[in-house]
Amino acid sequence: MARKIVAGNWKMNKTVNEGVQLVEELKNELAKVDTSDVTVVVSPPYVNLSEAVKTAQGSPVNVSAQNVHQEESGAYTGEISAQMLKSVGVGYVIIGHSERREYFGENATDIAKKVDAVITQGLTPIYCCGEVKEERESGNQNEVVGGQISSELFHLSPEDFGKVVIAYEPVWAIGTGLTASPDQAQDMHAFIRDFVSEKYGQEIAEETSILYGGSCKPSNAAEIFSKKDVDGGLIGGASLKAEDFVGIITAFN
Ligand code: PGA
Repeated sequence: MARKIVAGNWKMNKTVNEGVQLVEELKNELAKVDTSDVTVVVSPPYVNLSEAVKTAQGSPVNVSAQNVHQEESGAYTGEISAQMLKSVGVGYVIIGHSERREYFGENATDIAKKVDAVITQGLTPIYCCGEVKEERESGNQNEVVGGQISSELFHLSPEDFGKVVIAYEPVWAIGTGLTASPDQAQDMHAFIRDFVSEKYGQEIAEETSILYGGSCKPSNAAEIFSKKDVDGGLIGGASLKAEDFVGIITAFN
């Protein structure tokens, strides 16, 4: 069975002090609930990572970066490598978020290389895929998501593919308040699992955590997470408040 994961994506929010405070609040809230079968992850901005890792120590909170550069080092002004992320103690890296694709021009080649860079450092990629509104409206969502996954992940060996967490995030649902219905999420997650199974076999497909992302909140998480192929969520807005985020983490119970 796939691991259950709830990962928060803070995006460009929270100063270092605000981030430390949020991790402290999360630790306190999580101490009151049973999180033994859910992996909890937060993804602060780069400059907050080091403090977030220190603050999270000894708690169920794992720390992720929101992006990475594909090269190990060199003349890439403003960029951060997987090796650097490892050196501050993060365990996860979000890769290919739709905002990176749309606003920063990340393409399939970059994303495939970022996945490799992260796996090489022994970190876990949280790989994002998802269709835009027009693609959903024209019924092409499976083709689009299948295309992303095959061009950005299917170069991996079965062993390395087994290290990847997939986040399905329909772009039309991100930050819009529109959520995929639980059935739409389930249909896509089942499609992804079948697609992975055709390439890597059933065992690896069943072990792959497939998270849903897009306007997930405490009020809709339980229904979405109850679906067979939904193994958790990648949470933006609702991960910025400890109470809401914990409400989503405990939606499995
Ligand atoms: P949202 O963002 O929960 O605010 O819609 C999700 C994401 O972008 O990961």
